Amino acid sequence: MANPGTGGRNPDLERAVDAVTARYEAANPASRAHYERARKSLPGGNTRTGMFYAPFPLAIETAAGATLTDVDGHTYTDFVGDFSAGLYGHSHPAIRAAVMEALDRGMAYGSTTPYEARLAELLCAQFPSIERIRFTTSGTEANLMALVTARAVTGRDSIMVFEGGYHGGTVYFGREAAPIAVPFPFLIAPYNDPEEAKRLIRENAHRLAAVLVEPLQGASGAIPASADFLGALREACSAHGVLLIFDEVMTSRLAPGGRQGQLGIVPDMTTLGKFIGGGFSCGAFGGPAEIMKVYDPARPESFVHHGTFNNNVFMLTAGAAGLENVFTAPMQAALNDAGDALRASLNELAARHSVPFRATGLGSLMNLHLQRAPIRSIRDIAPRDPRLRQLLHLDLIDKGFFTTRRGYITLSLAIAGPDCTGLIEAVDEFLTRHGHLLDTAPAE
Ligand SMILES: Cc1ncc(COP(=O)(O)O)c(C=O)c1O
Repeated sequence: MANPGTGGRNPDLERAVDAVTARYEAANPASRAHYERARKSLPGGNTRTGMFYAPFPLAIETAAGATLTDVDGHTYTDFVGDFSAGLYGHSHPAIRAAVMEALDRGMAYGSTTPYEARLAELLCAQFPSIERIRFTTSGTEANLMALVTARAVTGRDSIMVFEGGYHGGTVYFGREAAPIAVPFPFLIAPYNDPEEAKRLIRENAHRLAAVLVEPLQGASGAIPASADFLGALREACSAHGVLLIFDEVMTSRLAPGGRQGQLGIVPDMTTLGKFIGGGFSCGAFGGPAEIMKVYDPARPESFVHHGTFNNNVFMLTAGAAGLENVFTAPMQAALNDAGDALRASLNELAARHSVPFRATGLGSLMNLHLQRAPIRSIRDIAPRDPRLRQLLHLDLIDKGFFTTRRGYITLSLAIAGPDCTGLIEAVDEFLTRHGHLLDTAPAE
């Protein structure tokens, strides 16, 4: 038996991974063929890196409600929820109706429309920090806009971000420096360390335009920021005239006012994305009228913010229909309660099986981790043999549950109690059968 953390072979793990991978390959010839074909025109066969997993990803062809169906005809319960953008589930009747109406009215006007103000009003009413808002086509772009705005209005150049922070494909601060990160002067601080953050803000205030933070680090493993940490950022930014930006691209779904509303900590600017466009490409950045007025073209010396698809009518009408008619405060509370209950059940399983396994997160956003120790930052995430993740992921697929290789799970409104019970049973079975491997497998 291999020693945990030493690296090297573990025949039990190898056998288990080989078996589940062989079953996956045998069951998915059409997905494999799709992958081979896609590789000829797309590097790695995809246009969104997170979609890839070995040996090849499933090619999903259709979806309905809480399910996805792949090109080999298997149907899965969707616990990915398009990484939180798919909050409404697939083809929700209200979203569908909004899209069909937009289609009937034509769709690319090259003009202002009545639709952008409707979604803008809804979002301004919800988020404490947002008096004025502008739309973009992605969360990445929303963050870039917030950063360049902060730099322009403060006249300072640097941005403080946090280890593990993910603000988009080009604004990412993982364990290794990303060669395609945008070339801003970033100061990277440890996450959830209030004292260190305060010190760094104080010492660098003269050059800091903004502090950009996720109230829960999504991509790095659903790691919630503590209220103390966010409160310390608020205090230090106010004391030193640095703009505090909350990236609520993921956390906006947690409560009517997002995480800022839940905690009563109001940033200077907020970025949004994912579900706010009803499942369509979207992003938004907003803040006080005093800051956002720089985008008023009627003012002299206003800043130019173009974007052909910023007011794409599908995003605007689907987003507004969802917020007005579907994702009401009670629905929001119920969804996040369901997430809390699922996470609690998964953690009870880990305790019962006494294995290194834990579910982190808040409400309907969560991540499965293969360790016992609590996680307050990426520094606390134990390196594990990636074959363990492959085993868990393909085993859940085998049982009909679509999750992610990295263990990220989001709930949509289409997921029902029995779906969660099914997932809990599947994880229970996995831990019964393979739990011992979690203890004995070597590190990466
Ligand atoms: C917190 C956070 N910010 C920004 C982004 C980037 O959004 P998009 O993928 O729409 O560019 C993401 C995407 O996962 C995110 O999780």
